[in-house]
Order: sequence, then C-alpha cells, then structure tokens
Amino acid sequence: MTIAFFDSGIGGITVLSEAVKQLPQENFLYFADTLHVPYGTKSKAQVMEYVQESAARIMREEVQALVIACNTATSIAAAELRKIYSIPIIGMEPAVKPAVEMNRNSGKRVLVFATPLTLTQSKYNELVARVDDHGSVDSLPLPELVGYCENLNFDRAEMTDYFAGKLASFDLNAYGTVVLGCTHYPFYKGILREILPEHIEIIDGSRGTVSRLRSVLGLKEAGTGDSRGRIQFMCSSDDAAYITKMEKAFELFTCLEG
Ligand code: DGL
Repeated sequence: MTIAFFDSGIGGITVLSEAVKQLPQENFLYFADTLHVPYGTKSKAQVMEYVQESAARIMREEVQALVIACNTATSIAAAELRKIYSIPIIGMEPAVKPAVEMNRNSGKRVLVFATPLTLTQSKYNELVARVDDHGSVDSLPLPELVGYCENLNFDRAEMTDYFAGKLASFDLNAYGTVVLGCTHYPFYKGILREILPEHIEIIDGSRGTVSRLRSVLGLKEAGTGDSRGRIQFMCSSDDAAYITKMEKAFELFTCLEG
C-alpha cells in the first residue's frame, strides 16, 4: 500500500514523520505544492484551485489513501476532494478539542497558532464554537512562520525574537496549552519550549491524524520485523534541490522528535 501525504511545502513532513514512526512498513509518497507555497496568506479561491491541481497530480500515482497534512488546505478543500475521489482522505484541524479538555479543570486558557487563512475559515470558527464552552480559546496568526520554515531558518536568536514579539501582548501565565495549528510549526517546538513558561503544554495534531489514518485503513501500530517501506518525495515544481531539502527536513525532524 502507498499512502500519499500532501502539504503546500515541508510542513506535512512533521506528520509524515509520525506516520513513519507508527507505520514503518508502509510506503509513503509525499507531495509538496512548491509552486504555490505558502497557502495561509492567499485567498480561499486560490487555495481551492491549488489543492485540486495537486490532488489531481497525486492521484495519477498508485496511492490508496491521501492525508492532507495541512490545516489550511483541509479547511478549504477537504470536503470538495472527498466528493471527487473515492479513496480515503484524512484531513487535519487544529487540536482545539483536546486542548480545551486539558484545561477544563485548571481554568487556564488555550492559545491556537495557525495561518491567517485557517483562522478566518468557518470550519475553524465552528470548531471553536462547538468545543469551547467557556470562551477560553484565543487565536494568533503567524503569517511569517511558514516562510522562515521553508527557508530552513531555525536560527535560535532570530526566531526567539520573532516569537517574543508576537507574544508580547499575551499574559502567558493565563494559558495552559499552546496548539500548533499549522503543520510547519512543530519544527519550532524546541525553540517555543525554551520561550514559553514551563507549565504550558505544546500540542499538535500529528498523532491524532495518524491514529485516524490507521483506524480508517485498519492498520496496527508499528508491526514487528525489519521491513521498512519506501518514502518518495515529489513537488509541483519538479525541483531536484527542493526534493533534497525535503529529505533533509525529514531527517532533521525525525532527529528532533527522537
Ligand atoms: N502547513 C500548512 C498548514 O498546516 C500550510 C502552510 C502554508 O502554506 O501557509 O496550515
């Protein structure tokens, strides 16, 4: 079986890495829409078109399931793709529900980081309205962060300044959980861990998404035996240098996660 993963760029690698950990024997095809990254600062209509083009390209390969490893693309186009294709399509949404549950008894607030486009969609606003019965969720768009990530900019000093500026007006003691609602953001988990007060948990949707993938496909976690599946990287610009970058980002993130 080959499972396709899709994102605008290298962000979905943070989800792929979790999938490879849980399902090492499966084959994976990772597709990045390098011609159009970033999605999160573009219009809904543009992203709808880009995701449909990318999905059509991916479906020309022999794949048995598609993970939209991108919160932005999911909120814009997952429903549409499910109307067009019959293979299982697994989307992602910011992990607001578990975050609200985690803080229910402490009275602490939840802060969701995501792209501007994700945060302005009805899908996100309906999710918050459904699960946030105490009005404890705040959102912070980080429009520049995908660009830093695509440039593999993990410079500690520069990124610390960036986050400090974004968080300057927040009383962080009031928060119990930060939700990383964009798949590029977990590349910065280490830096965020150093900046945020110790009591704040940082969560993302990777594990939940891969559990959902396993359950939809009826696959068990980490089979025994040494057989390893194949991971193939592709991108819409067919750029060999970007393929190398994706391989490097995969190695880097897999190391970071341990
Ligand atoms: N990684 C994506 C997400 O999860 C999209 C980032 C972008 O292209 O702006 O939202």
